[in-house]
Amino acid sequence: MDFHFEVHIWGYLGVLGSVKGPLPCAISFLIGCQILPSSHQIMFGFRLPRIHSKMSRELYSRSHLDTAPPRYNGPFYPLDKSAFQKSIPVLAARVPASQTSSILRSEVTRKYLIGLPKIRPVVSDPSAPDGDRLVLLGVSDPVELSPESLKLIESNGNGFTHYNLVLDYDYWTTSELLQAILPEELREGAPVGFAATGHVAHVNLNDEYLPYKKTIGQLFLDKNKSIRTVVNKLDNIDTQFRFFQMEVIAGEPDFIVEHHESDCRFTFDFSRVYWNSRLHTEHDRIVQSVHPGEVLADVFAGVGPFTIPAAKKGCAVMANDLNPASYTYLCQNVKDNEVSDEVRTFCEDGRNFIRNVFRRVYDTPFPAYTGPKLSKTALRKLQKQTARDKPAIENSTSQDFKPPRRKIDHFVMNLPDSAILFLDAFRGVFTDKALREVYSTMPIIHCHCFTRELELEQAEIDIRQRVEEKLEVSLQGDVEFKKVRSVAPGKEMYCVSFRLPPEVACNTKE
Ligand SMILES: C[S@@+](CC[C@H](N)C(=O)[O-])C[C@H]1O[C@@H](n2cnc3c(N)ncnc32)[C@H](O)[C@@H]1O
Repeated sequence: MDFHFEVHIWGYLGVLGSVKGPLPCAISFLIGCQILPSSHQIMFGFRLPRIHSKMSRELYSRSHLDTAPPRYNGPFYPLDKSAFQKSIPVLAARVPASQTSSILRSEVTRKYLIGLPKIRPVVSDPSAPDGDRLVLLGVSDPVELSPESLKLIESNGNGFTHYNLVLDYDYWTTSELLQAILPEELREGAPVGFAATGHVAHVNLNDEYLPYKKTIGQLFLDKNKSIRTVVNKLDNIDTQFRFFQMEVIAGEPDFIVEHHESDCRFTFDFSRVYWNSRLHTEHDRIVQSVHPGEVLADVFAGVGPFTIPAAKKGCAVMANDLNPASYTYLCQNVKDNEVSDEVRTFCEDGRNFIRNVFRRVYDTPFPAYTGPKLSKTALRKLQKQTARDKPAIENSTSQDFKPPRRKIDHFVMNLPDSAILFLDAFRGVFTDKALREVYSTMPIIHCHCFTRELELEQAEIDIRQRVEEKLEVSLQGDVEFKKVRSVAPGKEMYCVSFRLPPEVACNTKE
């Protein structure tokens, strides 16, 4: 979900508000309050002040009220939240409680309601809490109302009054507050979005925002209930294991996250292993392409975002990662997601893993696939039924026998920086006749890589050439090139999928 949740909600409210008027907007706020970020929500940042402030400005201008936060001149850290309090006098109609709905629902009056996000259009009168309600309007004077709406309000209500609407730090969004805090030259393009992994929000601040990093961190923390830690990713990425260096800019220095993806629970130390929520679609795509009962070898498995969902789907998985921290959490995630029978884990170099995995699966095959995993109740039921049908089973023919799984159907190689360089490890993996015979169909290799070629056609040529160079054969048959995402300007991530050519696996040159 490529959205910052806060914006998503308000975007939705704004659209509702502008399409159907302020009342649905206010109602949807009341609903919206109940569905603020869940603990597993993924929020991806992108520069959104334009989107948000445009939306807000539209609403403000419709209600003729200046609801922008006051310019902030207090300390940057910690923020003086009281400095954001603002009192706005608004026009209100006094209406008996029993009559408010006729004003709220009427087409005639609806467009004159206050129409501000998060503000209820009906409040009790502070000077007479048990008396009439106050219906807040978006005009400053009754003369601005149309004759029909004036008539409706007059016939249902008891005149007009002024109401002091108080807005404070809690009212405004991160984006609006940042606009009030930052110096003029930094407002455009201020970083108000972030990506969330479990309870950790991460940003990638440009140098000019570093003096305000603690302020930005505090805002994200205050405005997002599911976030407990805010980190700024530093530029240096661990070259071998691909995790980021990061500094905490707000909250607790706790990096052990619990993150949910594809109905699986992943626990890991975000500061010591690789994780990228932006790959969710790619994880899903690969898992969709494998079938229950197939065997998958995940060469650079990380903490298991391909392995675990594939195993839950009914695949058997040989999962490997060289980073000891990734391996530890991979094992924990296998256990937590109850797929220990389906997954075998390894912590070795990808090249060794490829060379050995054919033999390992052949020598110690996975049991035959017997269908989807059953719930405990369904399993008990089946056991009872099996006991009843025992004679039939004993008489069953060899046709019912399913052989154990000795061959690998798919390889996933998600180490885009260098996975292609590992392809030579497939040369000569069929070390004997028995192994050769089991592979009537060759495994499909899904190999992730980067390319500097931005055009699909050129990217395909570049990737194909590098793959063929490593395999020392030309790829025949179907070869799929899937663009996964743009990683940086001029750098694309792809996944190339092809069947391992038999002549590579049988190659005896090595
Ligand atoms: C880009 S991450 C992908 C992780 C996971 N598959 C995912 O999609 O999130 C690459 C992984 O390869 C591991 N790795 C790096 N070099 C390796 C090697 N030589 N052999 C095995 N694993 C390696 C890293 O520790 C990292 O977890």
